[in-house]
Amino acid sequence: MEIIKFEKVYKTFEENGEKIEALKETSFTLNSGELVAIIGPSGSGKSTLLTMMGGLQRPSGGIITFEDKNISSMSEEERNKLRFDKIGFILQASNLVPYLTLDDQFALVDKFAGRERNSEKSDALLKKMSILNRKKQYPGDLSGGERQRGAIARALYTEPSLLLADEPTASLDSKKAIEVIQLLKELTKNSNRTTVIVTHDERLLEYCDRVFKVVYGVVEEIGK
Ligand SMILES: Nc1ncnc2c1ncn2[C@@H]1O[C@H](COP(=O)(O)OP(=O)(O)O)[C@@H](O)[C@H]1O
Ligand SMILES: [Mg+2]
Repeated sequence: MEIIKFEKVYKTFEENGEKIEALKETSFTLNSGELVAIIGPSGSGKSTLLTMMGGLQRPSGGIITFEDKNISSMSEEERNKLRFDKIGFILQASNLVPYLTLDDQFALVDKFAGRERNSEKSDALLKKMSILNRKKQYPGDLSGGERQRGAIARALYTEPSLLLADEPTASLDSKKAIEVIQLLKELTKNSNRTTVIVTHDERLLEYCDRVFKVVYGVVEEIGK
């Protein structure tokens, strides 16, 4: 099933009267069940690509379709709702809230969504990530790997059909990084979702189904 489709999408920024082509015109389709890697040098447009997939910013032109809905023309409010319901984000420095325990990170999600707390569901996710025994701890008391797995658990709590991760293993040693990618692969295949990761780590590519390389704003799908 098609999850996200870019048609002639591009993004430009204006800075001090100078035009920056962060992403040149690009078209591709990602399907459910795919684990996709985005690689490329720093400043090449990877984060711009990822945030547009996640509806965090609008393209300057072109059409982005998410599950048959055109998100490039949606209002801010509609995009927020869609993002909340369907898209999970995992950031480099694990975007956990520092003053909340691991368990309360999920409560915050429910509060935003106006939903009842579902401790069974969050416990099951923490168990899957092997950090259930850490649920009363604050992010600062967890190891880098535990924090990153906590961030993954929280992202999965809303059962997103698209999971976006910007350098999720950057702060981990290579053994932990491989564990995280294996986990992401399993979570992608088992739930038939789409996962996109930005990474600098070439060793992770063999676990991915597709690899896109971004250089100076030009996106190209390459073999692994
Ligand atoms: N909000 C912005 N305003 C101006 N320029 C931006 C903005 N976001 C990104 N850029 C520029 O777009 C280019 C691509 O950035 P980015 O997508 O963050 O690259 P990467 O994630 O590959 O390091 C860079 O030249 C960057 O400076
Ligand atoms: Mg980036």
